[in-house]
Amino acid sequence: MKVEVRLTDVSKAIRKKKCCRKSCSKRRQFPASLPATSFPLQRLYMSCLDVFKGVGTVPSSTDVQKLCRILDGMTAEDVGLSRNLQFFKTSSIVGITPKVSCTTIYQSEKFSLCIFFLPANAVIPLHNHPGMTVFNKLLLGKVHIKAYDIVTSSNQEHSVSPSHPKLACIKADGVFTAPCDTSVLYPTSGGNIHAFRAITPCAILDVMGPPYSKKDGRDCSYYRDIPYDALPYERAIMSEEERERYWWLEEIEVPKESEMEGIVYMGPQIVEMS
Ligand SMILES: [Fe+2]
Repeated sequence: MKVEVRLTDVSKAIRKKKCCRKSCSKRRQFPASLPATSFPLQRLYMSCLDVFKGVGTVPSSTDVQKLCRILDGMTAEDVGLSRNLQFFKTSSIVGITPKVSCTTIYQSEKFSLCIFFLPANAVIPLHNHPGMTVFNKLLLGKVHIKAYDIVTSSNQEHSVSPSHPKLACIKADGVFTAPCDTSVLYPTSGGNIHAFRAITPCAILDVMGPPYSKKDGRDCSYYRDIPYDALPYERAIMSEEERERYWWLEEIEVPKESEMEGIVYMGPQIVEMS
């Protein structure tokens, strides 16, 4: 499989393993002698313990700033990656959509820390984060991100049917190049439904609180976006510029591109606190 070859160099720091995106979780034995806040990843973990209070809660703006400050200062090296790895120098192969890989650094019921590896031209299709607050830190590479929020309105009759396309407002549609600031999405704002397309090989560190959990009603749904004028639904009076900001999002079956290769995290280890 092509992705295995491409990840050979990444595997110097991260070894492949079979696991799925939603259930990757690994507990480890840690050296007890390390100072608790001796490195950025540990500081991130410690702050997450404070910030994520569990299901149904959203971090305060002060707490969001606290996590953003830590993430903004983090580099690929802080999770054991190097920009000199062959993976990050690999160019794309025309006509082939490469597979995304992911690794879980830490996962609990309250939050998870994951890294996604996107070869050039790889895609993470449009998907949501139900009831979740998510921090995205682009560690390496250049990626196009498109993000939407569902528009909620008391007079939207069609919103009662889950299969009916939902009106959404675009929140981001642009190219991000590392190093750049952390982006944050919330349960109902900040671009909760988003998609990634790698322009160059990328590594993205995700902090999710709480993580996906199918049994707790936080499964991942996928969508396709349809231009506002293409469907004969709601016709509010809008300028052309406004219409470009509104799209319909139609839920779709889990797309093939969403399949990811699970790999073992081999970077600096978190010292877990009870
Ligand atoms: Fe996401």
